Amino acid sequence: MTTKVVPGQLVASRDAAQVATEAATRMARALRNAIGKSGRAAIALSGGDTPRDAYTLLAKESGLDWTKVNVFWVDERAVPPTDDRSNYRWAKATLIDPAGITADRVHRMPADAPDREGAARDYEAAIREDVELDGDGIPAFDVVVLGVGDDGHTASLFPGEKTVDIHDRLVAAVDARGAREARLTLTPPAIEHARHLFILAVGAAKRPPLERVWSAQGSIHETPARVVRGCRGTVTWLIDKAAGGLAN
Ligand code: 6PG
Repeated sequence: MTTKVVPGQLVASRDAAQVATEAATRMARALRNAIGKSGRAAIALSGGDTPRDAYTLLAKESGLDWTKVNVFWVDERAVPPTDDRSNYRWAKATLIDPAGITADRVHRMPADAPDREGAARDYEAAIREDVELDGDGIPAFDVVVLGVGDDGHTASLFPGEKTVDIHDRLVAAVDARGAREARLTLTPPAIEHARHLFILAVGAAKRPPLERVWSAQGSIHETPARVVRGCRGTVTWLIDKAAGGLAN
């Protein structure tokens, strides 16, 4: 039998609504603490359906000075910013506009740029400029929001692709494959050096990939979400009952 150890803190919720509430409260606390310590904070947002309600609640959190928070993305698809599949579009609708975050703090990931490799390098430069470096000289996001795909991906680190082996860059271009459009994604070092990782998963389809992430043995190439096991900061799992949150 393989041992299962949840790496980090598991916050078990009864349903998606509670996951969103717990996530928003904790993300806001981490951002406020960062601002209290260093006068600024940085958050990287994932797309997908799961975090949208948490973003809506985060926008309503009081006592959070958004003029001091730089907003980046974990990943983005090669689509225009108004496209229904754009992660920027959803974050803008749920968090950025409602919270009144000003354009100078918002760093859209330009995955739709014709030169995606160049865009990845420029995005890394923007991160290095606005995110505090840790003791290793790597930018350490105060908050990174992640989801887990049914196939075990996180960010745009997909099973069977070499992006999980990238350690010399913070941002990488991901080629289109099948029905999936090309993307930009944060790489393992950007995720591993986060001060706080919040991983949101809701619904029964997330249970098998979560079990694979939590298993002591496993391959990061089969289940790229195992990248979170290397995080040096705090890791918080916000999981509903269907995804296995109350079964542990
Ligand atoms: C994206 C992501 C991706 C997402 C997972 C989970 O843009 O697709 O950032 O990694 O977090 O696919 O997505 P759901 O929340 O929709 O299940």
